[in-house]
Amino acid sequence: MTGAGRVASPEWWHSAVLYQVYIRSFADADGDGHGDLPGLRRHLDHLAWLGVDALWLSPVGPSPNADWGYDVADYCAVHPDYGTLDDLEALIAEAGQLGIRILLDLVPNHTSDKHPWFEDSRSSTLAAHRDFYVWADPGADGGPPNNWVSTFGGPGWTLDDASGQYYLHNFLPEQPDLNWWSQGVRDAFDEILRFWWDRGVAGFRIDVCHMIVKDAQLRDNPPATEDDPFVMQMFGQRPVYNSNQPEVHDVLRRWRTISSGYDPPRVLLGETMVESLDTLVSYYGSGTDELHLAFNFPFVEAPLDAQALSNVVARTEALLPEGAWPVWTGSNHDVSRLATRWAEGDPARVRVALLMLLTLRGTAVLYQGDEIGLVDGDITEDELLDPVGKRFWPYYVGRDPERTPMPWDRSPHGGFTDAAATPWLPVTDPRVANVADQRAESGSVLNMTHEVIAARRRSPDLQLGGYERLAAPDGVWLFRRGEATVVALNLSGTAQDVALPGAGGTVVVGTDPARAAPGAPVPGDTLGLGAWEGVVVAGV
Ligand code: GLC
Repeated sequence: MTGAGRVASPEWWHSAVLYQVYIRSFADADGDGHGDLPGLRRHLDHLAWLGVDALWLSPVGPSPNADWGYDVADYCAVHPDYGTLDDLEALIAEAGQLGIRILLDLVPNHTSDKHPWFEDSRSSTLAAHRDFYVWADPGADGGPPNNWVSTFGGPGWTLDDASGQYYLHNFLPEQPDLNWWSQGVRDAFDEILRFWWDRGVAGFRIDVCHMIVKDAQLRDNPPATEDDPFVMQMFGQRPVYNSNQPEVHDVLRRWRTISSGYDPPRVLLGETMVESLDTLVSYYGSGTDELHLAFNFPFVEAPLDAQALSNVVARTEALLPEGAWPVWTGSNHDVSRLATRWAEGDPARVRVALLMLLTLRGTAVLYQGDEIGLVDGDITEDELLDPVGKRFWPYYVGRDPERTPMPWDRSPHGGFTDAAATPWLPVTDPRVANVADQRAESGSVLNMTHEVIAARRRSPDLQLGGYERLAAPDGVWLFRRGEATVVALNLSGTAQDVALPGAGGTVVVGTDPARAAPGAPVPGDTLGLGAWEGVVVAGV
């Protein structure tokens, strides 16, 4: 069995279910059409009932919103759209009373071009913050210093007429990249970490954490070849020098040391958007000295297919260094929601995907709306707000569909904002899925999610037990967790009989509300699974 007994001293987050709140779309208390902190506080009861252990809040800081909060103008304050620092402190306290911790989103790769550091930096080549950013003279041909391209399309450099130098931006020109070779940047971020951690913030999700350090010599990236992944071919180059540099690990070790000075240690959850699992696991360092958790994008990008997903899990489990712990997610604010991407809107597939996420060995991260099987919203060209959608429409609609607001009930705008207000993005028809209706309906996706989380909380096997894949027919993913718990996931559209490792098991929880209740005995040692059905069995 892999991973058995590898966590010497479990911390709270090992067994946790995290929940990503995209705050602008969660709940609007002041009727301006944008979600806010008081709106989130009003719905803490939903999150406590659901059973999540912590929230990761998308960036809360002041921002001109060129990239909807990921262009930060002040790391130690709250955007007026969301409320005040007092509101955030009240949220931390109130959530804490309900047993829910708060993680914030740290954006260390770049700031807004309106951040005072950048305003100072661009004011003169002699400015105090000049070296906070990556400035370089034009290349030999008078153009950009090298061939790096922006992740959001176009060149990675913008010329600053005043000084005649270019500044680097791996994203929008309004998001200049910080220079992580600068001691001043490193020191400033130590202070930002402490600012929030001293206020009781339980950790950070770290934005584009694999990219923060760039090649000191700013060498050209080599061209992509036809053997490279699609994205690299699209950009025409391999990101050899502007991503995934060895020195990023020094920064992570530095942050881990600061984290370890807190009780409990503050969690470092990295957005490690890398193609290979070998690279991914490098972000755990020795296993105990870099990130606590590194998001697994090969898993997110795999289809809802037993072979594809279980292969990613098997390889990840095999590669993780001693002491490291996996984390699984299916949706976030940058990718199509799991109910659309994995499940094509089919409630049975949504259920089995959620059961999978919540029963694998590792921390589980749900995105707001996953718990009701919320699908991507429909966005028309004139509704586009995401700069990436605006740039690539109609070839790529961008990320607005997965950012549409939470439907809380059947009232206008799904109760997200006042009836008279205009939500910042349109709310998907709340009659399709909303929290209140699903709460009232026994057997709904929401009630199932609540039951699975409760079962996970009751089961030491599901919380910390090892993972072992068991033999099963094609299309079925069967795995053991810990001593005596087996998870059977039929990721196919046909009914399947699955041989359990033994007889005498009982149902813990499952996706089909019609199946016998929790505690019911499983007759014999064969489990008959309906199409896209998942069941957890104990005692085998
Ligand atoms: C991360 C964020 C994404 C943002 C980008 C640039 O990938 O998740 O929303 O646009 O970083 O900050």
